[in-house]
Amino acid sequence: MSFEKAGDIIRDAYKNKYGVASFNIFNYETIKFAIDAAEQAEKPVLVQLYPGFQSYISFEITAEITKLFASKIKVPVGLHLDHCHDTDMLRHAMRAGFLSVMYDGSRLPFDENIKNTREVAKIAKEFGADVEAELGNIGSAANVDEYTDKSKFTNPDDALKLYNETGIFSLAVAVGNAHGNYAVLPNLDFERIKTISDKLKTPLVLHGGSGIPDDQLREAVKCGIAKINVATEYFHAFYKSVGEYINNGGNREDIFSCMKAAQKNTNDFLVEKINVLN
Ligand code: 13P
Repeated sequence: MSFEKAGDIIRDAYKNKYGVASFNIFNYETIKFAIDAAEQAEKPVLVQLYPGFQSYISFEITAEITKLFASKIKVPVGLHLDHCHDTDMLRHAMRAGFLSVMYDGSRLPFDENIKNTREVAKIAKEFGADVEAELGNIGSAANVDEYTDKSKFTNPDDALKLYNETGIFSLAVAVGNAHGNYAVLPNLDFERIKTISDKLKTPLVLHGGSGIPDDQLREAVKCGIAKINVATEYFHAFYKSVGEYINNGGNREDIFSCMKAAQKNTNDFLVEKINVLN
């Protein structure tokens, strides 16, 4: 049985200075492929669901599938709820078994972010769950300004204040990262990661893990990042595999063969990403 609280997996990563990949999933296959890859790499993994996707695969089903796959392998597997703004949804997810949740108040005024995050941390405590908060602007990778303008990055003193006043477990930081396909190569601010890490002494989270060069990912982990979120690159690998299968004469009407083809190439990507971080 290897299903574990995501927080415990992240805690171990932080203590032992490695990174854990947290892959966004949205169906049976994406959960299965991520957990199969962890088994192959013999390293822990997290799967996370983005709010909205539960209209396709419910929190309950996601948790049950994840736990079942995890029960068959030896390495730890954890479950996390990504970017959530809604306390009813957070409660629902925690009740279903998501014992790690992100409350994203980064778009709110600072004091409101603190107030709401504190409230969520209090609710999470009732469930024995860990909370990831966000501070700074982690925008879209299509807009260069969003990840090069340092005034949008996480302020280390504010990060410490938010940490001290809320009861969160981990913090997602804006340090030159953004979500989606980077228009230009990102250039992470390692000094800032290190400063925040030294102040908070708690695991930091890197969103927008797709398209960041491996050497930067490794350096970020050395500076205090323990959880790295990856969605865009995973989904690309999935679509590319299916596309290649069909373009090479595969039968597009044979969904079973399409999914088997998706698994093969996607698996290479997942194993490699897990290994780069750990
Ligand atoms: P990417 O889609 O850029 O990998 O970002 C994923 C993420 O940070 C999810 O929270």
